[in-house]
Amino acid sequence: MSAQLKSDTLVLFGATGDLAHRKIFPSLYAMERRGALNVPVIGIGREEMSDDGLRERARDGIEHFGDDVDDAIFARLSARLQYAKLDYTDSASFDTLRTALGDAKHPLYYLAIPPSAFETVVEDLKVSGCAEGGSVVVEKPFGRDLQSAVDLNEVLHRVFPEDRIFRIDHYLGKEPLLNLQYFRFANRFLEPLWNREHVRAVQITMAEDFGVEGRGGFYDEAGAIRDVVQNHMMQVVALLAMDPPAADDEESLRDAKVRLFRSMLPLRPQDLVRGRYKGFVDEAGVADGSTTETFAAMRLRIDSWRWADVPFFIRVGKHMPVTATEVLVAMHRPPQQLFSAEGGPARNYFRFQLKPSTIIAIGASAKKGGEAMVGEQLEMIAVHEEPDELEAYDRLIGDALEGDTGLFARVDEVETTWHVVDPALAADTPIFEYAQGSWGPAEADVLIEPWGRWHNPLSPESS
Ligand code: BG6
Repeated sequence: MSAQLKSDTLVLFGATGDLAHRKIFPSLYAMERRGALNVPVIGIGREEMSDDGLRERARDGIEHFGDDVDDAIFARLSARLQYAKLDYTDSASFDTLRTALGDAKHPLYYLAIPPSAFETVVEDLKVSGCAEGGSVVVEKPFGRDLQSAVDLNEVLHRVFPEDRIFRIDHYLGKEPLLNLQYFRFANRFLEPLWNREHVRAVQITMAEDFGVEGRGGFYDEAGAIRDVVQNHMMQVVALLAMDPPAADDEESLRDAKVRLFRSMLPLRPQDLVRGRYKGFVDEAGVADGSTTETFAAMRLRIDSWRWADVPFFIRVGKHMPVTATEVLVAMHRPPQQLFSAEGGPARNYFRFQLKPSTIIAIGASAKKGGEAMVGEQLEMIAVHEEPDELEAYDRLIGDALEGDTGLFARVDEVETTWHVVDPALAADTPIFEYAQGSWGPAEADVLIEPWGRWHNPLSPESS
């Protein structure tokens, strides 16, 4: 494996698109503000636009989706920006890019474009000589099933070596996930408990109180499982369940995750409940007769010495009552029930809130004041709110420019996670409607019933 390669230019394909507008320009601005952006930025699009046109578009994105704009900082960012129009289907037009690159030796190509255009663009970069010395950033979804992910990786590998490919799953750049990784392996008290002897069940809920927000066409093609389970949720499960990495380096961490993904059993149709909020089929861009899910609840099985028979439940959904992501790790009860009054003490648990705040809480029982040996459930809670923590994209673009692949999905992570969800996706399972603002279809409650019930983050009954 070659040493980390710093890029000397950022080339943003899809510079006039939605992702650039909402996420990438606000992140570039944040990087500029903290002095972390040191390279020219070439925006690429298929439409006619001047350099100033791109600057205006960038400013609009920052104003709507980022921080208040400081003119002096924006002027510095503007000075880095230029625009080039390319016809992705005509490799000759990539000569314009060659010229724009000037003396750049190590460009970083950020493909903020539909995956259907990846192959053509990557081939054109190769044919035009622009790919030489370069790296590439691609966004999830990485394929739409195992086979298309394998094909996509093959396309990328034809032109770029694995350590020059940055597959963005922005969850990997989130502070609360990094914190989860830290908490797991920095605390000795956790490890003896973190296995099937002590853990009864794990559940993760990622709830969003909004719908597809104008992305009906994209979302209808993807659905909740492809959109957030195969990538974001699998990464959360990996951090929760993996064995300690062999060493403190990026490949060891990714090896540990892949080892976990390999021990996950393929998702069975009976372990999956798909739901769709009422009104989804009327959203702009959603095809007639769509069977796409906006909600999914599932039980994952990890066939390892550590986790055999411990269910990992995942529940994700749009138009839920709240926007919050939480993990609940429920422990077995004490083997002997000394305090049996009122059903005895509640289970111990660990609760990790990943959104909106970073919270680590431990649920325990203690005696209520008074004569009787009757207890109550307490939570020991640590809240971590750093107002100036890095946004995920800010962190990830910086890492990609530095050539640091640690927070990006490696080829085998992508393929092993598809291996888990693919069979259930292919199985054409039923879809159940749910009311907007509810916690999804009742069938999801049935799925978890043998192990208890769903923990609803930020809800009164869960507090
Ligand atoms: C994106 C999905 O990857 O993640 C969206 O495409 C989802 O549908 C979003 O809303 C959630 O990200 P975050 O950072 O807001 O939790």
